[in-house]
Amino acid sequence: MSASPWPGVVVRYRERLPLPAGAEPVTLLEGNTPLLPADALSPGGPRLWLKLESMNPTASFKDRGMTVAVTAARAAGARTVVCASTGNTAASAAAYAARAGMACVVVLPAGAVAQGKLLQARAAGARTVAIEAGFDGALALVREVAALHPEIALVNSVNPLRLEGQKTAAFEIVDALGRAPTALVLPVGNAGNISAYHRGFEEARRLGWIDRLPRLFGVQAAGAAPLVDGAEVEHPETVASAIRIGRPASAALAREAVRATGGAFLKVEDREILAAYRDLPRRLGVFAEPASAAAVAGFARLLAQGTWGPDDDVVAVITGHGLKDPGTAEGELGGGEVRRVPAERAAVEEAILGEAWV
Ligand code: F0G
Repeated sequence: MSASPWPGVVVRYRERLPLPAGAEPVTLLEGNTPLLPADALSPGGPRLWLKLESMNPTASFKDRGMTVAVTAARAAGARTVVCASTGNTAASAAAYAARAGMACVVVLPAGAVAQGKLLQARAAGARTVAIEAGFDGALALVREVAALHPEIALVNSVNPLRLEGQKTAAFEIVDALGRAPTALVLPVGNAGNISAYHRGFEEARRLGWIDRLPRLFGVQAAGAAPLVDGAEVEHPETVASAIRIGRPASAALAREAVRATGGAFLKVEDREILAAYRDLPRRLGVFAEPASAAAVAGFARLLAQGTWGPDDDVVAVITGHGLKDPGTAEGELGGGEVRRVPAERAAVEEAILGEAWV
């Protein structure tokens, strides 16, 4: 029996979070996600772990930041939370706003959000707005509106409390390994999460929990790689809709994260993302959304370049769950078809034992 149940990110890490003393936590008991060994994807290479952020309450890493941002917003008297989103931030904001008894408005690029994420936002009662713009345009507009209306809480990662919450994933990795990993590989879109991990590991070092920082590797999709290419991308394009972002708001913090840790930005083609997307559930039982598969594709590239030896520890972050994006799954997982057979013993026996599957 465990002594006490997991209390969620705000209670567990309260002394490390800049929240007002009296603020009542708004929580869905996010955090405490598994660090899953994944050596099958690292033959002859380093020890590999997957940080399963897809196991958070709304099935993405966003919940860590959202619990902190919404806790602070409610304590400050805000009634409405607003965000622009490629989908996961919207799903998370909607859920935490519902939990807090607050209203939520999500502004989304029309036709560019995975179906599950859209349904999550609508299910939680968020006012759901689609505009003819990409994520970058949507974020610019909500920032403008929020600046005019102080009673609205903007909960995109330009809100520093989001990064404060997300840094707690770094604490958990240090806790689980008992040391710093050699490297952390994660997908980068608006560039908040890599900046949050940097903050978390840096804080862990200052506190004496670790004696060096892991190298941070930020993976972008080739068609949406402003941090690799060194220029904003007007029309970002990739199968990984979560990271279809051409003008990352936290670009400067992310560059610093990579520089200070001796890491790098790299880009992977959509076909590499999709190869990892198919591999993860089939070889490891982990169903991740395409953006998360980009981290594993990036790991594979770095592995092939001989970046690590067998004594290294590498963590790849699975940022969101595969169930969020049934459209991509239907089109890209291939095989695994549903076979219709008559409801008769012989037919079912043949289906169970027959050779026709192989
Ligand atoms: N992975 C997933 C599944 C995401 O949803 C996102 C970002 C990222 C990675 C990249 O993280 O933006 O901090 O660099 N999703 C945001 C959203 C943009 O609106 O849900 P980042």
